[in-house]
This record gives sequence, C-alpha cells and structure tokens, in this order.
Amino acid sequence: MMDNSSLLNAFSPFRLRNLTLRNRFIKTAANEGMIRDGLPTNQLVEHHERIAAGGIALTTVAYGAVHPDGRTHETHMYMRPEVVPGLKKLTDAVHAHGAAASIQLTHCGFFTNNRKMTGKRPLAPSRILNKYGLLSGIVCSKAMATCSASSSVHATIAEKTNTAATWKTGCVSRWRW
Ligand SMILES: Cc1cc2nc3c(=O)[nH]c(=O)nc-3n(C[C@H](O)[C@H](O)[C@H](O)COP(=O)(O)O)c2cc1C
Repeated sequence: MMDNSSLLNAFSPFRLRNLTLRNRFIKTAANEGMIRDGLPTNQLVEHHERIAAGGIALTTVAYGAVHPDGRTHETHMYMRPEVVPGLKKLTDAVHAHGAAASIQLTHCGFFTNNRKMTGKRPLAPSRILNKYGLLSGIVCSKAMATCSASSSVHATIAEKTNTAATWKTGCVSRWRW
C-alpha cells in the first residue's frame, strides 16, 4: 500500500540553497514552440504564467541555446541580451503567482537541423552521423578538440550564464571559468 505521508510531502516547501519552493511540483522543460524571431513571445509568457497560477512551485522555460549553432531548430531561442526583456516579463508574471522560474540552458551537439548554422558542421564530442539533420544537409558533426573545449566553450558558457544571471537579477554580473 502507498504511504500517504510521502505523498503529502509533495505539498510541503523545499529549500534549494537560497530559493524556497512552495511545494515539490516542478514543470520540466518541454519545447513550447512559442519563440518568434528568436525572442520570447507573449504566448510563452502566458503559458508559464498559467502554469504558475495552477500552483506549481517551479516552471522551466525550454531551450535557451548557449550559442546560435547550439539550436536544434533555427526557431529556438539562443541566449543574448535581446532575450532578457521578454524573459524578465515571464519571470515577473510567474513570481506574481508565487512560483519560481528556471530555464534549460542547452547545446544540441550533433542533433540539429538548424539551417542557419554559422559553422560548416555542428560541434559535438565526437564525429557522428546526424540522421535528424540529413534532409537539411547537415550530415555529420565535427568532433571538438579538447583544447577548443577548454577555452572557447568555457568562454561561451560564461557569457551565456551572465545573460541568464542578468535576466534573473536585473543587474549585470560576471561569471568566470
Ligand atoms: C512534447 C515534449 C517536449 C519536450 N521537450 C523537452 C525539452 O525541450 N527539453 C527537455 O529536456 N525535455 C523535454 N521533454 C521531456 C520532458 O521534460 C520530460 O522529462 C519527459 O516528458 C518525462 O516526463 P513525464 O514522464 O512526466 O512525461 C519533452 C517532452 C515532451 C512530451
């Protein structure tokens, strides 16, 4: 028989470092398809606002690519200063209902059909056939060199994390690797 006390626990607050969630219900990332011209739309804001109003503790915005070439689809959002006002609107709406917001910072690796790719081939840990992107002419990935991983990738992640931190706090911060 299921123990009711563990079920009831789902409604109790949870402390995640200095963030207190009002319960244990978290909405995971699920690609909303509500980005236009690479920017968050009012539809995306409303979507997450309604989830927050429903009582969830934390909602997750899907897919903030850390680089334009890290998008699975060319319609995905990638992190840059222009996305901050739209995301700020979203967090304000979510916070107004007592919930918290998070974002999935992502790089798709080889798994892409992004026709706006700036490089010749998608960067991935290894060279691999990209069945998903075949019809878009993105046949295989380019294996990352260890040294490029340690310098340019860390710099890119730090830059995008700064964009996300600016969104969260409203002030410019600096992360270094
Ligand atoms: C339509 C759809 C879109 C999804 N998009 C994402 C996504 O963008 N990022 C991600 O990490 N997971 C994504 N997922 C996976 C979900 O976040 C979740 O982990 C998965 O559905 C398992 O949870 P469930 O058993 O409650 O469905 C998606 C799932 C679905 C059904």
